[in-house]
Amino acid sequence: MLLSPLFFVLASYVYIAQAWKVFEVPHVDGQDDTPALLAALPNYTVDSTILFKKGVKYNILTPITFPLFTNVEVRIEGNLTYPTDVPTIQAIVGASSFSGHWFSFTGGTNVTLRGTTDPQWGWVDAHGQAWWDAMEQTNRPHGWAFRKINGGVIRDMKLWKPIAWSFSTSGSNNIHAFNNKIVAVSNSQGFPFNTDGFSAGGTNMLFENNWIQNGDDCITVGNGAKNIHFRNAYCEGGHGLSIGSLGKGGQVADVQNILIENVVMKSSLYGARFKSWTGGQGLARNITWKDIAFIDVPFPIYITQNYWDQGIGPKPNNTGEITNTRIEDFTFKNFAGTLKDRPVGYIEGSCISDPCWYDVEGATGRDVAIFDLYHDTAKNIRVQNLLPKAQSGLPVTVMCDPQAITTDVGFRCQNGLWIPTRAGISLRPW
Ligand SMILES: *[C@@H]1O[C@H](CO)[C@@H](O)[C@H](O)[C@H]1NC(C)=O
Ligand SMILES: *[C@@H]1O[C@H](CO)[C@@H](O)[C@H](O)[C@H]1NC(C)=O
Ligand SMILES: *[C@@H]1O[C@H](CO)[C@@H](O)[C@H](O)[C@H]1NC(C)=O
Ligand SMILES: *[C@@H]1O[C@H](CO)[C@@H](O)[C@H](O)[C@H]1NC(C)=O
Ligand SMILES: *[C@@H]1O[C@H](CO)[C@@H](O)[C@H](O)[C@H]1NC(C)=O
Repeated sequence: MLLSPLFFVLASYVYIAQAWKVFEVPHVDGQDDTPALLAALPNYTVDSTILFKKGVKYNILTPITFPLFTNVEVRIEGNLTYPTDVPTIQAIVGASSFSGHWFSFTGGTNVTLRGTTDPQWGWVDAHGQAWWDAMEQTNRPHGWAFRKINGGVIRDMKLWKPIAWSFSTSGSNNIHAFNNKIVAVSNSQGFPFNTDGFSAGGTNMLFENNWIQNGDDCITVGNGAKNIHFRNAYCEGGHGLSIGSLGKGGQVADVQNILIENVVMKSSLYGARFKSWTGGQGLARNITWKDIAFIDVPFPIYITQNYWDQGIGPKPNNTGEITNTRIEDFTFKNFAGTLKDRPVGYIEGSCISDPCWYDVEGATGRDVAIFDLYHDTAKNIRVQNLLPKAQSGLPVTVMCDPQAITTDVGFRCQNGLWIPTRAGISLRPW
């Protein structure tokens, strides 16, 4: 059969339409590289790679809001720097046009944000140290928004001294975030406040092989999150593997099917943590933390359904008419490690009030599990295979109100010594 010339015309047209485009982000020494990138981006919203080249130090002196992408990969192989001085950033963040994040992706399908495994390059440096040293908390930008994306990857990214919050996936679906590194480590007394690692909101997400040194939650799972799996991670210095806070201002929470496993928690204030505000509503269910090694951690397991603002008065009682986020089917399984004793006057870097925000009235300072449960709203909470040792060698204790929960929580529910029950020892630990 002879092919008509028209066939070839059509075939080459189809070929062009499907061609992959590569855009190398230009750089000019001493200038802001954002405007040239923003000007070119409309031509690279489909089937494209946007490449920050290795060997180049890009000046991202103003925020980047990426357009809606379909099949686009942003590759960060060069170094990126924020402005080095605090007031410049504060002026941008304070302006009404600011999106909230220094880098934002919103919407789109099949979007990849990819750094590099080259240890010398691919770092995004936000110069957070100056902010931490000044305890500057006014007009701080968030780092990376990866919002409302359907099908996305965040891999091999490396953040150096982020000012505060790192990655947020709120409202996205089907996300794989792996091999990322966040280094929010202070080299002075200045504490890296609110340098959360991953804020996981949305559905169907896998976070794995991430390395996070910071000063707030390693991961925080927000309202609306479903089917979130966080595994094989190293978390150091921060505030835990957290769900919440939920239910602030009476909000109705809906969080389901969360699995956090195989994580090393090193010198972190909390290990596994759940917090919902007094007066919230809704349900958090089927949440598992398992295979957690904790080293030098003051609060390995901590649940509060009665989170409140210290500034507005005494802690409300865990009884009465007020509503609360219900919790069901929480499992803490295979936790082993060393508990950091909290002697009188113990202070963690984020403590700037007296009493400290994390202070628990009546605690011994060797509390391996604290269940601050609201009456009649917590069901099927269990700790199984817990192997704690206090650094002091003294016996560890728990806090639990037997009137708030009637099922066996895996240890004797009391404010006192940690005494495992039969339900706390599984014959098939793995
Ligand atoms: C976008 O692509 C068109 C067609 O190739 C070209 O004419 C135009 O200059 C490009 N715009 C930018 C901002 O690069
Ligand atoms: C998704 O994007 C990647 C590049 O980031 C590309 O290689 C892949 O083909 C895209 N997938 C689909 C289904 O188009
Ligand atoms: C890239 O940035 C990181 C963090 O600031 C720095 O340690 C590294 O030396 C930089 N790489 C180069 C080649 O300058
Ligand atoms: C609980 O969550 C896990 C994921 O962690 C999921 O595999 C399982 O099906 C869920 N179970 C129920 C009863 O929803
Ligand atoms: C909590 O209950 C105790 C004893 O019933 C009462 O003395 C106290 O005032 C209550 N506190 C608050 C904040 O309601």
